[in-house]
Amino acid sequence: MKRLEGKVAIITGGARGLGQAHVRLFVEYGAKVVITDVLEEDGTALADSLGENAIFIKHDVTSEAGWKSVLETAEKHFGYVTVLVNNAGIAGGFANIAELDYNEYKKVMSVNSDGVFFGMKTVIPSMLKAGKGSIVNISSVSGLQVAPGSPNAAYVGSKFSVTGLTKMAALEYATRNIRVNSVHPGGVRTSIVDPVLFDDPKILEPTPMRRFAEPIEVAYVSLFLASDESSYVTAAEYKVDGGMTAK
Ligand SMILES: NC(=O)c1ccc[n+]([C@@H]2O[C@H](COP(=O)([O-])OP(=O)(O)OC[C@H]3O[C@@H](n4cnc5c(N)ncnc54)[C@H](O)[C@@H]3O)[C@@H](O)[C@H]2O)c1
Repeated sequence: MKRLEGKVAIITGGARGLGQAHVRLFVEYGAKVVITDVLEEDGTALADSLGENAIFIKHDVTSEAGWKSVLETAEKHFGYVTVLVNNAGIAGGFANIAELDYNEYKKVMSVNSDGVFFGMKTVIPSMLKAGKGSIVNISSVSGLQVAPGSPNAAYVGSKFSVTGLTKMAALEYATRNIRVNSVHPGGVRTSIVDPVLFDDPKILEPTPMRRFAEPIEVAYVSLFLASDESSYVTAAEYKVDGGMTAK
């Protein structure tokens, strides 16, 4: 029996980067996966490459109406949703607070924090009907401390918000077989990061392992959290940061 056999997962921001690594790994381990993203071409190509175990739905996580239609399609296609990976996120540009444009602030908060709120709000009723569920919210080391390389206060605020939303939901649904955990990556080799930074000794200095993670190294932690192997794990913060936050 595969580790995610019988699970139906929605993975947001699944067209590329960390999300795509989650999609591929979850399908490999037996889940039926609903990929959502604003990137229609990449998302459709990914779903097509995975056959009948994955579908793609174009969706902006800031749209609550869009969430409802994602859930409807997911349930129609695969049945009740039992895993949700809230992964979609944006960084915003580097700026100090005094220079941070309010529209930029709102956009980062909206995708990173409101998106996670809408996702949980929409999908938890499906999990309640299924009688089980695991939610994995992708925060960041910036959701635990102002980590080196944090681009701006909106990003840090939004990721701390994800940490808090996770714990509240975990406590609210602890007796109803729905577990909620957050994952906190350090630097990961994806397109959210300027590739010139991947091998920059100054950037790598705060990370004891002196390298960025590959997306799959984060996805394996979420695989554990999504599976029944983590049945007593809820409200936990999983750091996947090469030791960065140990200091
Ligand atoms: N890469 C890192 O170093 C790093 C570190 C810590 C946390 N994270 C977090 O990991 C998550 C994934 O990021 P990534 O590194 O794979 O970056 P990425 O840019 O490669 O992927 C993000 C995905 O989210 C999608 N997306 C953006 N806005 C969206 C929206 N409004 N609705 C739906 N989809 C949307 C993008 O189209 C993209 O496919 C983010 O939440 C990010 O904050 C990344």
